[in-house]
Amino acid sequence: MEELSIRQMLEEKGFIDEKVSPDIKLVEEIKRLKKEKNAVILSHYYVDSELQDIADYVGDSLGLAQEAAKTTADLIVFVGVHFMAETAKIINPTKKVILPDLKAGCSLAESAPIEKFAAFKAQYPDHKVISYVNCTADLKTMTDVVCTSANAEKIVNSFPKDEKLIFAPDKNLGNYINSITGRNMVLWDGACMVHEKYSVEKIIDLMDAHPDAEFIAHPECEKPVLLLAKHIGSTTSLLNHVKQSSYKKFIVATESGILHQMKKACPEKIFIPAPANDSTCACNDCSYMKLNSLQKLYICMKHELPEVTLSEEVIEKAKIPILRMLEISK
Ligand code: 13P
Ligand code: SF4
Repeated sequence: MEELSIRQMLEEKGFIDEKVSPDIKLVEEIKRLKKEKNAVILSHYYVDSELQDIADYVGDSLGLAQEAAKTTADLIVFVGVHFMAETAKIINPTKKVILPDLKAGCSLAESAPIEKFAAFKAQYPDHKVISYVNCTADLKTMTDVVCTSANAEKIVNSFPKDEKLIFAPDKNLGNYINSITGRNMVLWDGACMVHEKYSVEKIIDLMDAHPDAEFIAHPECEKPVLLLAKHIGSTTSLLNHVKQSSYKKFIVATESGILHQMKKACPEKIFIPAPANDSTCACNDCSYMKLNSLQKLYICMKHELPEVTLSEEVIEKAKIPILRMLEISK
C-alpha cells in the first residue's frame, strides 16, 4: 500500500520508472503516439542521434523556440533540456509541454539562482538585462530581452551604444559579444560545463597534427579557445559553415551530438571532436542532454509526463523578453 502511494507521488511529479518490454518497437510506438496525440517532437542537436532522427524538427535553441512559436500541435514533446521546454511552455501556455527527463538541467541555468541574481542586478539599477536563453524562467522574468548564441550580437546591437547592459548567465558568450560589439556589458559569472573543458594545448597539438583541418567553435567556449577558431557560431551556424566551407576536415569545439548532423550533411568530410582537459571523461557530451533516451521518450509520450508547469505570473513576465527576442530575430 505504502509502495503504491510512493509510486503515485513520484508519478505525479513526473518521475516514472517503468520497465518497457524489449518486444516494444520504440520508434514505431513513438511515431504512433505522435499521430494519435497530435504531438510535435522538437529535438536539440546535442541529443543522441536516434532522438534527432525521430524529431519533427532538429535545431539550435533559437530554431527550436521559433518552431515552438508556430506549432499547431496539441502536445509539445521537447527532447533537450529543461530551460528549452520551459521556453516552449512560456510561448504556448495553453499547450501541454513534456520532456523525457525532468532532471535534464543545464549548468548555466543552475549558475544563476534567482535570489543571487536579484542581488547582483540591484547593484546596477540603471542597467538593462539581456539574458541568454540558457537560464531559468524565473531569471527571464527579470530580463529585458532574451538571446541565444545565434542572435546574441543582433540583440545586443538592438540597444543604443551607450545603454548600460548586464549579460547573464554565460560569461564566455558575454565576453565574446563584448569583443565583437565593442560593448562593456557587466557579466554574470556562469559557464557551460561542457564548453569550458576544452584544452587549448591539446587543440593546438591537434591542429598541428591536422594542418588541413579548420578549427570551429561555439561561443560558450573560453576566450583562448575562441582565439584559435576560424569560425565561431551557434550549433546551426557551425553546421551551415561546414556545409559551405571548402575545407574537408574540421576540429569541432562543441557538444558531440552536432557531429551527427554534420556527418549526415557532409558524408565525405571528416569531423574531429576538440579534446578536453580530462582525457578520461566524455567531456564533449552534455550529461544533461544525454539523459534523454528513446525509452524515456516513449514513456513520456505514453503518459504525457513529466510535464513542464509554470505559474501564470512567471509565464506572463517571462513571455515579454522571449517575444521581444523572436520579434528582433525575424
Ligand atoms: P545553441 O543551441 O544556441 O547553439 O546553444 C547550445 C547550447 O548549449 C544549448 O544548450
Ligand atoms: Fe547547458 Fe552546456 Fe549542456 Fe548546453 S551543453 S545544455 S549550456 S550544460
